[in-house]
Amino acid sequence: MLPNLFQTYSFFLLILVLVHAPRVLSKNDEAYVNCGIQVRCANMEISYPFWGGKRPSYCGYPGYELKCNGDAPELTMMDVSYRVLDINTSSQNVIVARADYWNDYCPDKYVNTTLDAALFNYTSTFPNLTLYYDCPSGVRRYPNSFTCSDTNTNISVFYTATGSDTVTVSCMDNVTVPIFQSAADDIENGLAGSITQLSAMGLLREALTGGFGLELIAINNSLCEGCVGSGGQCGYNATSNEFACFCPDMPYPSTCPNNTNTGLAVWKKKAGISAGVSVLIVLFVMVGCFRIIKCLLAGKTLVFWKKESEDDKNMEAFARNYGSWAPKRYNYSAVKKMTNSFTCKLGQGGFGCVYKGKLPDGRMVAVKLLSKSKGNGQDFINEVASISRTSHVNIVTFMGFCFERSRRALIYEFMPNGSLDKFIYNRGSSNENLNLEWKTTYQIAVGIARGLEYLYRGCNTRILHFDIKPHNILLDQNFIPKISDFGLAKLCQKTESMVSMSHVRGTTGYIAPEVFCRNFRGVSHKSDVYSYGMLVLEMVGGRKNIDVQVSHSSQIHFPTWIYKQLQPGKDLTVLRSITNEEEEETARKMVLVSLWCIQPNPSDRPSIDKVVEMLEGSSHLLEIPPNPFMFSIQNTP
Ligand SMILES: *[C@@H]1O[C@H](CO)[C@@H](O)[C@H](O)[C@H]1NC(C)=O
Ligand SMILES: *[C@@H]1O[C@H](CO)[C@@H](O)[C@H](O)[C@H]1NC(C)=O
Ligand SMILES: *[C@@H]1O[C@H](CO)[C@@H](O)[C@H](O)[C@H]1NC(C)=O
Ligand SMILES: *[C@@H]1O[C@H](CO)[C@@H](O)[C@H](O)[C@H]1NC(C)=O
Ligand SMILES: *[C@@H]1O[C@H](CO)[C@@H](O)[C@H](O)[C@H]1NC(C)=O
Ligand SMILES: *[C@@H]1O[C@H](CO)[C@@H](O)[C@H](O)[C@H]1NC(C)=O
Ligand SMILES: *[C@@H]1O[C@H](CO)[C@@H](O)[C@H](O)[C@H]1NC(C)=O
Ligand SMILES: *[C@@H]1O[C@H](CO)[C@@H](O)[C@H](O)[C@H]1NC(C)=O
Ligand SMILES: *[C@@H]1O[C@H](CO)[C@@H](O)[C@H](O)[C@H]1NC(C)=O
Repeated sequence: MLPNLFQTYSFFLLILVLVHAPRVLSKNDEAYVNCGIQVRCANMEISYPFWGGKRPSYCGYPGYELKCNGDAPELTMMDVSYRVLDINTSSQNVIVARADYWNDYCPDKYVNTTLDAALFNYTSTFPNLTLYYDCPSGVRRYPNSFTCSDTNTNISVFYTATGSDTVTVSCMDNVTVPIFQSAADDIENGLAGSITQLSAMGLLREALTGGFGLELIAINNSLCEGCVGSGGQCGYNATSNEFACFCPDMPYPSTCPNNTNTGLAVWKKKAGISAGVSVLIVLFVMVGCFRIIKCLLAGKTLVFWKKESEDDKNMEAFARNYGSWAPKRYNYSAVKKMTNSFTCKLGQGGFGCVYKGKLPDGRMVAVKLLSKSKGNGQDFINEVASISRTSHVNIVTFMGFCFERSRRALIYEFMPNGSLDKFIYNRGSSNENLNLEWKTTYQIAVGIARGLEYLYRGCNTRILHFDIKPHNILLDQNFIPKISDFGLAKLCQKTESMVSMSHVRGTTGYIAPEVFCRNFRGVSHKSDVYSYGMLVLEMVGGRKNIDVQVSHSSQIHFPTWIYKQLQPGKDLTVLRSITNEEEEETARKMVLVSLWCIQPNPSDRPSIDKVVEMLEGSSHLLEIPPNPFMFSIQNTP
């Protein structure tokens, strides 16, 4: 009887509070409150003059609507969608990229980039990238051409960045896309250095995903600055078609009057908040008492507040499936403590930051704190699931994770020598310590291959990493390489030889053609073999594979150049610091193996266990691979 009475009583109280609380709390103007909500999309803060999503249209200027499309805000202009890559509110500039050309070169509809002149202007003069479609077969011999294929059509495409290419083309359609001058220069320099079709496509991709700058010209920023300075929120009055300043009490045309932020208004606001808080406290006490009494009566354990999100449920399911294998879960305050409140930053990436930390038992760890907007909970769980399965000398040891609503962190063993990239791209560096001996370079290459071999050898599930690159290889105190960063990894059943993927994974320069180009099919573990080959070539060259800053244009594309050095009469002593025959033999093995790994056709690439075998055998047993850059996309099945 008592619980029931109590329940009814609390229920009425709750209704009472729910009816009154908003009124008590919202003495503030609704527009002021709504436009003050912080909205973020892909790590960018959406504020005036932008609106969209949780921000009603009156919080921005008409035409400046942003829709959050998962991993980027998008704006639509003249029926074309643009991904917003960066917002600079103070200069009122944005960097945008064509959404239809994001990892795709043959969209369904060909549309030029045309600005809505009332809303946008270019931030400077941008060169046009021009893509020509349905070209006569004659232009195919150039590296800046390729074919988009799907089941019913083959579309030949030809592109040029500055129009300095003097080929007269009579293609059916053409589309202009503005790109940054530096991206246009890269393409021009690359073509002048006679790079391959595949490398040229990498540059095309970088140009299109680099975007261009737009200035927001429809608004007067000083109006908004004045409004914000007076304590208001910037917005727009659709009736008068003018700027509006939403102040705590009501909207004003430009700024909030002095008194809204002081005296009465603040008093009202404070009173509202304290009333609300008191009501909440009473409510908590009521619920608490009710629960305690109920439990005392029923003799049950006490469960205070149980609200599980979908991600939490998935995490619980994951922990259940893994049983004793499940890695240790830390709460956020423990993570904060072990990193000494995130004081020692080791590095930063697109995912977030890495900090140095110490476990209670004294072991040193690296804590990767993922930025809040990065990916959804399921991705994080996948990453934890991938790394929890691994235990190998060439895979970084995973020590635990934190998953507390939007707070996510991964805890790894600490690697004193950091990542491999700083040992590769050290040309001109006076720091001798960063120069790896050939023996060490070779051991690192073998170690990474062993790590990959381990990932694919799993009994039921294999792990495809999809982001093998120097930044993701860590080195311990003895320069033993450890594969890290499984953020893009994919778990797949052993029976699956091909993997289907919903979106492109990887980093330009290391992605296998079949992963980033929809002309190709058949993503498999051979895609990691390709990235591995590119990585080993960078280790051999001690530089980026494409580097326009080298002194000889023939060396811009290292893989092409090194391939030529394998021809009879040439040798590899041209490489940095090769002093004896043994080192030449080591370098030759690494070059031959990596050139096999970067064959455009996945079936021509060796499997990773074969790679280990090739590296450990003698270079005399290795055949010279076909030139990986002499292929035409049309010839690939
Ligand atoms: C925004 O633009 C201003 C003015 O052009 C510039 O000084 C500032 O560095 C930019 N901010 C960012 C974060 O790029
Ligand atoms: C794009 O603009 C060019 C001229 O700058 C024009 O010749 C071409 O037809 C336009 N393409 C489309 C698809 O509208
Ligand atoms: C647009 O920008 C160009 C320079 O990039 C400038 O010459 C032109 O006046 C601007 N137009 C408007 C309407 O602001
Ligand atoms: C780029 O192409 C557009 C037409 O689509 C044209 O108006 C503009 O002038 C071109 N820009 C340059 C720098 O040639
Ligand atoms: C597209 O090209 C491939 C290879 O050249 C060829 O086998 C196929 O028949 C072509 N498809 C069409 C629709 O022309
Ligand atoms: C672009 O295509 C149109 C036909 O769609 C053609 O009239 C025009 O000359 C082409 N422009 C260039 C620069 O090839
Ligand atoms: C912007 O607004 C300020 C303050 O109202 C005004 O002084 C200035 O003339 C305006 N600028 C433009 C370009 O309209
Ligand atoms: C919008 O402007 C009209 C006309 O100036 C005014 O009557 C109205 O109160 C304004 N509304 C808001 C929400 O500022
Ligand atoms: C607001 O306060 C400033 C100084 O505190 C004063 O100069 C100004 O006249 C006041 N404005 C109004 C509208 O009361």
